[in-house]
Amino acid sequence: MKIIKVTNELELSKTAGEMIAGKVRSNPEIVLGLATGGTPVGTYKYMIEDHKTNGTSYSKVSTVNLDEYIGLQKSNPNSYYSFMKETLFDHIDINQENTFIPDGNASDLEAECANYEKRIAELGGVDLQLLGIGRNGHIAFNEPGTSFDSRTQVVPLTKETIEDNARFFSSREEVPTKAISMGIQTILESKEIILLATGKSKADAMSKLINGEVTEDFPASALQKHSNVTIIADEEALSLVK
Ligand code: F6R
Repeated sequence: MKIIKVTNELELSKTAGEMIAGKVRSNPEIVLGLATGGTPVGTYKYMIEDHKTNGTSYSKVSTVNLDEYIGLQKSNPNSYYSFMKETLFDHIDINQENTFIPDGNASDLEAECANYEKRIAELGGVDLQLLGIGRNGHIAFNEPGTSFDSRTQVVPLTKETIEDNARFFSSREEVPTKAISMGIQTILESKEIILLATGKSKADAMSKLINGEVTEDFPASALQKHSNVTIIADEEALSLVK
């Protein structure tokens, strides 16, 4: 794993944003795997600025998101569908027909998961996957104990994840308890991975990711098995790494 240590969130966003925009310029038809949550917001902001200033075009880019809550309407501001439109897609020249997010309201969720896997395969796989990390080591919504062989599936969210994500909702009760998430095997099949982390709350997880054992009890440790992972993290997030 390559580790890029930055001083703060602003530098992290610039570093990651520049890296992604550079990949888009050199491969205009790139398939990007995208994450939601608080961590990548600055990176998306950088990508929007770069698109406006330098003209990096996303017109031929396809995207697949890691996950979506089950049971929120697309129009709900907390759905990842709304998040992605507001935070990135509405501000760049991407063809929104080429942006894919699991449908958390599908009548047949199992079929939706299988279709999502099929969609990724039809796109030729993910070229560059952007990840955040949960305090408990989750990547996408793959919580501790998830099989490393997992593919896109319906997953329950842990109490800790529900509490962490409650900050985006008006009350904890509104946070969905289930999601559709790309599996760990799905993520590992990406050609390249960039994982972002900021802040003290991620320090323990980052030390386990970088120095810990590879175990399904800590989902992000699966990344140690991947040959092209770059971690971009700030000093606080890396403060416990030996
Ligand atoms: C989001 C996702 C999650 C987040 C993680 C960290 O699509 O898959 O794994 O990356 O929960 O969230 P933040 O960035 O809010 O700390």
